[in-house]
Amino acid sequence: MPHDTPLMPAGAAGSSGADADADAPRLEPIVVLTEREIRSVVALDLQALAAIEDAFTRLADGQADVPPIVGLFVPRRRGEVDVKAAYIHGLPSLAVKIASGFFDNSLWGLPSGSGLMVVLSTRTGFPQAILLDNGYLTDVRTALAGAAAAKYLAPERVRTVGVIGAGTQGRYQARALRLVRRFERVLVYDHSPAAVDAYVSELPGLLKADDARLTSTAGGDGSREDIVVGPADPETLVRESDVVITCTPSHQPIVRAEWLHPGLHITAIGADIPEKQELQGEVLGRANRLACDLKTQCFARGEFYHAMTTGAIGADVPVAELGELTSRRTHGRERADEITVCALTGVGVQDTAIALLAFGRAAAARLGTRFPVGGDSAS
Ligand SMILES: NC(=O)c1ccc[n+]([C@@H]2O[C@H](COP(=O)([O-])OP(=O)(O)OC[C@H]3O[C@@H](n4cnc5c(N)ncnc54)[C@H](O)[C@@H]3O)[C@@H](O)[C@H]2O)c1
Repeated sequence: MPHDTPLMPAGAAGSSGADADADAPRLEPIVVLTEREIRSVVALDLQALAAIEDAFTRLADGQADVPPIVGLFVPRRRGEVDVKAAYIHGLPSLAVKIASGFFDNSLWGLPSGSGLMVVLSTRTGFPQAILLDNGYLTDVRTALAGAAAAKYLAPERVRTVGVIGAGTQGRYQARALRLVRRFERVLVYDHSPAAVDAYVSELPGLLKADDARLTSTAGGDGSREDIVVGPADPETLVRESDVVITCTPSHQPIVRAEWLHPGLHITAIGADIPEKQELQGEVLGRANRLACDLKTQCFARGEFYHAMTTGAIGADVPVAELGELTSRRTHGRERADEITVCALTGVGVQDTAIALLAFGRAAAARLGTRFPVGGDSAS
């Protein structure tokens, strides 16, 4: 695939691009990008969504190597650290990401998620960039995977969206969903009433700011109405929503099978390790169509793992991978009354895709501090 696809914007290849194999490599300074710089070039937009979809398509095409996740746990602080990476064949760079989720951080007014990414040349292995994003790129790439799932699986007509988990992903997922579906109402549930209050007061402003940004770019249609955001208990939320997004670190199922209704789509993103679960196993058992980001990961962690180990679904149940949907090798929703469920555990190709988007856009905007390879001071 040529490099002017969404995965390789101008500027990212540098002088060590794969096409330059005949020339001796020249070592470029390492670029260090701050969270502020990264935020100034990467946002929830249609080009970023296309980059994430492209990454999943290449994975489904067998054009990406994804190693197993390295997972570290700090139970005393409800902490997890994941290392994820992927080499997408033919691209001049790959990314390795360290991401953490420490779920007691709210006690100190800190977000749960943080981390950083390193971009390496796939020609020399030398580092090209360090992205000090503090988890921002993980938040964006996770939300865009949710948007991709909804693009292929959610009903065309979405009036109400239910968000379970009023934290960081609860915000990003609702915002990213607007790239693929219009909706009028958001219902939110969280076991923390303070988190619900903050969400209800903040989300309308975030959605308005997104509208303003998207209308000023090619991505938006600029005609969206005000969206009503309100609290709900989990049962009411599921019963009244067309799309439900679950994004908590819960270790107990929250969504029960008896609340499902024809036409519902659920994207579950919170359960990314074996211990976590947000959907009762029977939720997957009752669905007409199942999907996930990567079967090898999802069958060993999260919703599929629990549904399979309790026998709610069989190990041979048909499950589409997101890349089969983005490549249109498999179709998504076929009928308005289907119940669809997609579980996402987060795949290294998303990290390489979003890191290269950030690196490329930052290079084009001449952002970052450059450190000479082998040197110890900024150039
Ligand atoms: N699949 C992926 O690729 C991916 C990527 C990023 C984060 N995650 C996971 O998504 C989850 C949410 O991440 P976040 O960054 O939004 O965290 P966050 O701490 O910002 O938000 C989590 C929210 O869930 C609420 N909550 C916790 N347990 C609950 C329960 N049992 N019932 C109801 N509400 C509950 C908390 O009060 C909080 O408001 C985490 O499990 C995280 O590890 C997954």
